[in-house]
Amino acid sequence: MSSREQLKAELLAQLDRQNVPAHIGIIMDGNGRWAKSRGKTRIHGHQEGARRVKTVVRFANDLGVKHISLYAFSVENWARPSFEVSALMRLIRAYIIRERNDLHAEGVKFRLLGRMEELAPEIIRQANISTELMKDNPGLSLNLCINYGGRAEIVDAVKKIIRAGYPPDEISEELISRHLYWPELPDVDLMVRTSGEMRTSNFHLWRGAYAELYFTPVLWPDFDDVELLKAIAAYQNRERRFGKISEQL
Ligand code: IPE
Ligand code: IPE
Ligand code: MG
Repeated sequence: MSSREQLKAELLAQLDRQNVPAHIGIIMDGNGRWAKSRGKTRIHGHQEGARRVKTVVRFANDLGVKHISLYAFSVENWARPSFEVSALMRLIRAYIIRERNDLHAEGVKFRLLGRMEELAPEIIRQANISTELMKDNPGLSLNLCINYGGRAEIVDAVKKIIRAGYPPDEISEELISRHLYWPELPDVDLMVRTSGEMRTSNFHLWRGAYAELYFTPVLWPDFDDVELLKAIAAYQNRERRFGKISEQL
């Protein structure tokens, strides 16, 4: 057994299957640096990053994770050079089409999370085909966060609430939750960021309010099942108190 396989076996043996995070959010960062360190273009890094998604989604599904939110393009990422933005959009569209049948075969569900109206209609159309195809699948839901911003999501929820005519006294956390993108998506339990940056960059502000944060220096294209297991192991060693004290849990 290689040392990697051995580590995986050890992590699996220690895993508490009753306490797997139901919703994992991943800030898939570091594609550019991964490519640069190999003398390749940033676009190459994004291509390699997209390849990684399959391993992580499949493994999370096998572990019984219910939802995975993958941060693939933020509302702030439009500010990148237009060449990179176009390449990312092409890659996202190609990913949705290419992975459709495999994801379906895995029994997962698929949806986009983000401000849809600013995306190319073809991306929405392709995503809708996948969402519809997989909507009755029993497995994990893969939420691909594109043109996503945590603040934008709250702003959009507030707009929907005002348009629906709710009076101020009826505004509650529960009401705001019900007007987020995909309201049935629960709070994030574990938020992972790769590449060593220690910030959440506007990801899941509302649903991530009580997420356990896990930062790893591993760059996204190097992130795999073993890295996911390490993140879950760290999560399982945390005590989630939600404002209470240990003795109350
Ligand atoms: C993450 O990798 C992917 C996106 C934000 C689309 P980056 O492109 O941010 O990679 P680094 O941070 O420059 O290494
Ligand atoms: C966060 O990564 C967004 C995604 C991974 C899609 P960035 O690379 O855009 O974040 P900053 O700019 O370092 O905060
Ligand atoms: Mg980055």
